[in-house]
Amino acid sequence: MRLDIVTIFPEYLEPLNVSLVGKARARGQLDVHLHDLRDWTHDRHSTVDDTPYGGGPGMVMKTGPWGEALDEVLASGYESGACAPALVVPTPSGRPFTQELAAELAGQPWLIFTPARYEGIDRRVVDEYATRIPVHELSIGDYVLAGGEAAVLVMTEAVARLLPGVLGNAESHRDDSFAPGAMADLLEGPVYTKPPLWRGRGVPDVLLSGHHGRIARWRRDEALRRTARHRPDLIERCDPSAFDRKDRETLSVLGWAPSPDGRFWRRPQAVEE
Ligand code: ADE
Repeated sequence: MRLDIVTIFPEYLEPLNVSLVGKARARGQLDVHLHDLRDWTHDRHSTVDDTPYGGGPGMVMKTGPWGEALDEVLASGYESGACAPALVVPTPSGRPFTQELAAELAGQPWLIFTPARYEGIDRRVVDEYATRIPVHELSIGDYVLAGGEAAVLVMTEAVARLLPGVLGNAESHRDDSFAPGAMADLLEGPVYTKPPLWRGRGVPDVLLSGHHGRIARWRRDEALRRTARHRPDLIERCDPSAFDRKDRETLSVLGWAPSPDGRFWRRPQAVEE
C-alpha cells in the first residue's frame, strides 16, 4: 500500500518509523511518502493560512498550497505506477473512524492523508478533489485535537496492522474488540501472562485448566461483562440472535433483559457489579 501524507509538521509523523508501521515500511509492505505543505508556498513567510470569510476566530488553510500539493502528489504517484487513490481528510466533523472503515481502507492501494491545522482547510479543496477521487472525511473521536497529524498516526496504525503479512500471527486480529466474527461488537476481556502469582494476585483458574471450551466460555462472559460496563450502547445495538443461552444467562445476572423487540436493555434497578 502507498501512503502520502501532506502536512506542515512532517516531523510529527516520525512515529511512522517505529514498531509495527516502521517494520511494515522496512519490509516494503507500506510505502510512505511525507510531504511538507510549505514546499508549495511562494511567499517569503511560506504562508498556508488566512482569515476566514464571514469572520470568526482562528485561521483557515488556503486553497493554493493544498491544490498544488495534491496535484503534484497525484501526478507523481500515478507516474510511479500507483493507481486508485483515495483522499483521507482527518477532521472532528467527519464520519467516525471505525474498525470497519480501517478494514475498508486496508483494502485500498493508495491513501493520501491531508491533516489540517488551524480551523481546517478551505472547503473548496475537498469539493474539488471529490470530483476526481473518493474522499473520506473521518474523525477519530468526539474531541478536538490541535491538528490532524495525531489522527493520521491513529488511522495509519489501525490500517497497517490489517495489511497481509504485517502482524506476525495471522490470527491475532481475530479476537480484537470490534473485529467481525463471533465476538463481533463486544469488547475484549482481560488477559494474563506469567508469572502465575504477582503481588498476591493470581490468574483465573480456568485459564490454567487447559480446557479450551471452558476458556472460550469464560472469555465470552468477560467480554460481555466488560462491554455491558464500558459500552452498554453496544449491547443495546446487538442483534439478539448473536446471544446464545449462556450469553443470555450472563446478561441477566448483569441486569439485562430482552425487550419486546428482542433487543437487550438494562433494567433500570440493576445495580453496578
Ligand atoms: N482533527 C482535530 N480533531 C480531530 C479528530 N477528532 N479526528 C480527526 N481529525 C481531527
